[in-house]
Amino acid sequence: MSKKYVVAIDQGTTSTRCMVFDEKGLPVCSHQMEHVQIYPKPGWVEHDAMEIWSRTKDVIRGALEKGEIDPNEIASIGITNQRETTVVWEKATGKPIYNAIVWQCMRTQDFCAEWQKVPGWEQSRTGEGKVKDITGLLISPYFSGTKIKWILDNVPGARDRAAKGEILFGNIDTWLIWNLTGGPDGGVHVTDVSNASRTLLMDIKTLQWSEEMASFLDVPLAMMPKIMPSSCVYGHTRADGPFGAEIPVAGDLGDQQAALFGQACFGKGDTKNTYGTGCFMLMNIGETPSPSKNGLLTTAAYSLEEGKCVYALEGSIAITGAAVQWLRDNLRLFDEAPDSEYFASKVEDSGGIYFVPAFSGLYAPYWDMSARGAIVGLTRYIRKEHIVRATLESICYQTRDVVEAMNKDSGVSLAELKVDGGAVKNDLLMQMQADILGSKVVRPQVNETTALGAAYAAGLAVGFWKSTDELKEHWAEDRRFDPLMSKERREEAYAGWKKAISKAQNWID
Ligand code: G3P
Repeated sequence: MSKKYVVAIDQGTTSTRCMVFDEKGLPVCSHQMEHVQIYPKPGWVEHDAMEIWSRTKDVIRGALEKGEIDPNEIASIGITNQRETTVVWEKATGKPIYNAIVWQCMRTQDFCAEWQKVPGWEQSRTGEGKVKDITGLLISPYFSGTKIKWILDNVPGARDRAAKGEILFGNIDTWLIWNLTGGPDGGVHVTDVSNASRTLLMDIKTLQWSEEMASFLDVPLAMMPKIMPSSCVYGHTRADGPFGAEIPVAGDLGDQQAALFGQACFGKGDTKNTYGTGCFMLMNIGETPSPSKNGLLTTAAYSLEEGKCVYALEGSIAITGAAVQWLRDNLRLFDEAPDSEYFASKVEDSGGIYFVPAFSGLYAPYWDMSARGAIVGLTRYIRKEHIVRATLESICYQTRDVVEAMNKDSGVSLAELKVDGGAVKNDLLMQMQADILGSKVVRPQVNETTALGAAYAAGLAVGFWKSTDELKEHWAEDRRFDPLMSKERREEAYAGWKKAISKAQNWID
């Protein structure tokens, strides 16, 4: 039967989605479900990996049913995932030995603070040091490495069993591919370079696990998945699984790298910003993993063939959309996240307040894990609408912080920013972003570029699409936002943001 579709499974921080794409890269149907967020202590975040697998099966069945898709018409499947989130499970039973520790979880903060004092591992404020030299990252609880160590330290017997290969590690991509291709009956245990580059355990130059990092963190390499390209056939789904057919699983990209791929950012200098739980700006820097001098990470963007890799500079912001969710769920200021646009548009400005949503410390370019959230400048004039507006502005200011760092690292000023993710439907947010950056903001027609990127990787692997040039042809603009604010007002407002940041920093001793 001729192949008409490629399927993407996008397993994110708050939900899992299955999207079916046609040969033009257009969405045909999709199904999405949320999963439970577990907060055992302040600053700790966990997911139930079994629930995530269960939701994945549900959304696959839901999407195929909605679009009346015959699984025999699916050419291949791509996986994209919340990165860094750490799953450790028993090979024989397929049961996790601990809840998945989510990328935002700060439980290893004390260990990371001590690590920076170990002779030979000292790190500058912007992250220069041995960890950056080896991995392109920096010492932080954000990445998988210290989370794996925590599980091995806290689950009795786990380290010995891991050394014997009885216990396996994976980010969510690895967990899903292992389950989709067989689960306890012997699924494949693989990851791709983009996910491996988020573990603190991959050597960014050799694209292999680093024995030095593994030895320092006391993580047995026997538990690590095989590192593979982002676009190749890893294995096949089982006929008795949620697809009901044997289909090649052929794409694997961390969600932020997938969005870069889905935005067709295949050229050096091409840059995108994805607006989700957090914001993640990635700039394609070609085939050399140049380090940042301004608080950005160097990360593997994608690999289309064994041993070759395109790299990116990344500015990671932990809390953007999550701040809007916090207004909705914790402060109950509105019922649905999109209502934030309505309330923010009811006032002309934020009334002089700034909201720094440093709930998980501050990521790029500050990397201050001792920062905490703050609303500053409050007077009795301030209403709910101002707080909502200040929250949207905080997304734009944090993005500007990252753009400034990118400009310094690359030596050129970003002329326009390609955006994607659910929140880019908010026109007010996009206009504010253009105003605060002083650059054009460009929104594509398909804004779900994360899923699209995973589909592209999977489609390329099986010849459904022939080349990245063909994929580039699919990209189409929806709308462009030009900056309307005066330069003077922009710089004055941004100076206020920098002052607010200084109030939120160094909060925890
Ligand atoms: O690094 C964390 C990132 O991959 C999470 O993305 O879209 O689930 O917020 P998202």
